[in-house]
Amino acid sequence: MKKVNLAVVGVGAVGVEIMRILKQRDFPINSLKVFARSARQIDIDGNKYNVEAIADENFSNVDIALFAGTEGEKGAATLYADKFVKKGAVVVDNGADFRMKDDVPLVVPEVNCDAIASNKGIIANPNCTTIQALVALGGIYKKFGMEKIVLTSFQATSGAGKSATVGLWEETKELIAKNDNVSFDNISKKVNKPIGFESQIAFNAIPKIGGYGDDNYTSEEWKVVNETHKIFADNKIKITATCVRIPVFTSHSEAIYFRTKEDTGLSGIEEALKGSKGVVYTPDSFALPLDVEGKDDVYVSRVRRDRYEKNSFWLWCVADNLRKGAALNAIQIAENLL
Ligand SMILES: NC(=O)c1ccc[n+]([C@@H]2O[C@H](COP(=O)([O-])OP(=O)(O)OC[C@H]3O[C@@H](n4cnc5c(N)ncnc54)[C@H](OP(=O)(O)O)[C@@H]3O)[C@@H](O)[C@H]2O)c1
Repeated sequence: MKKVNLAVVGVGAVGVEIMRILKQRDFPINSLKVFARSARQIDIDGNKYNVEAIADENFSNVDIALFAGTEGEKGAATLYADKFVKKGAVVVDNGADFRMKDDVPLVVPEVNCDAIASNKGIIANPNCTTIQALVALGGIYKKFGMEKIVLTSFQATSGAGKSATVGLWEETKELIAKNDNVSFDNISKKVNKPIGFESQIAFNAIPKIGGYGDDNYTSEEWKVVNETHKIFADNKIKITATCVRIPVFTSHSEAIYFRTKEDTGLSGIEEALKGSKGVVYTPDSFALPLDVEGKDDVYVSRVRRDRYEKNSFWLWCVADNLRKGAALNAIQIAENLL
């Protein structure tokens, strides 16, 4: 296999996971450049990397650039993706800036790998919540079509970046310190000031991820709707979502209710799941967020039919949001480019 000149932009929660997976999968690298806002040396699992300040870069001699910077106007992809593309690189971006653009393929390799070939220099990685849902539902969709999806997510703090994860830890420590020598009946459950999110996340649940958008849904909930339509290339699916942040460090969980277009029973759904790439289906047990941390697959369990509605089912799925939900999906796209 051809060895490539690779760039990784961003060394936060996702960027570090990208570096880890590149090593684990023995990605064929000729040269590796690592960028962030500021230059420094970092250590990942005992391996040292020189991080360069991206502002000083000339963007040449890069075949593939994996972006894991923050989003928006001042985000890495908005400022620098085109500069890499102009010098001949293909960019795979983890953020939301390019996902819904017509000329940018939005790819979950297990579902729409073919879309990669239509790229014009930028390929987008979907949102973590969408990725694991579509890996779980992809095989069922291909076999039976999909009329409706109702998704509720229980999302880990690392989905909001490294600082949010540190926030959960610091809030938890603050409460433990505050309640030292206090009887259980009198413990204080509130921190002085939320650290990682706008509300306290320790021992809590926040039913708002991102800003509010149309019809009072949040941006995270709209991502699930719009990205699913684009990846399945099917705007007719009726999708609605509620996304909730919970005090878990890594791995998102999702309860998904869906109705297929074609008639099927529970055994048809189970067969589809058993044949789905990237899915581990466990009919007799369920995976927990802690179980799947560091794992590549999407774990599906608790599949049930709705007794009152035809062709309607529930499933529960859990996946590592930093791996399959971000870094691994981007690297799988890069592997397909090769
Ligand atoms: N976390 C997840 O589960 C997840 C899942 C799917 C997608 N994503 C997306 O992946 C991206 C990265 O997320 P994250 O959670 O890793 O964020 P993070 O922990 O906050 O890290 C962001 C990194 O990007 C760098 N950066 C930010 N702005 C930059 C700029 N203008 N130029 C160069 N580097 C810049 C930062 O550099 P410094 O270190 O120098 O500040 C930092 O290393 C985001 O777009 C996010 O939406 C995340």
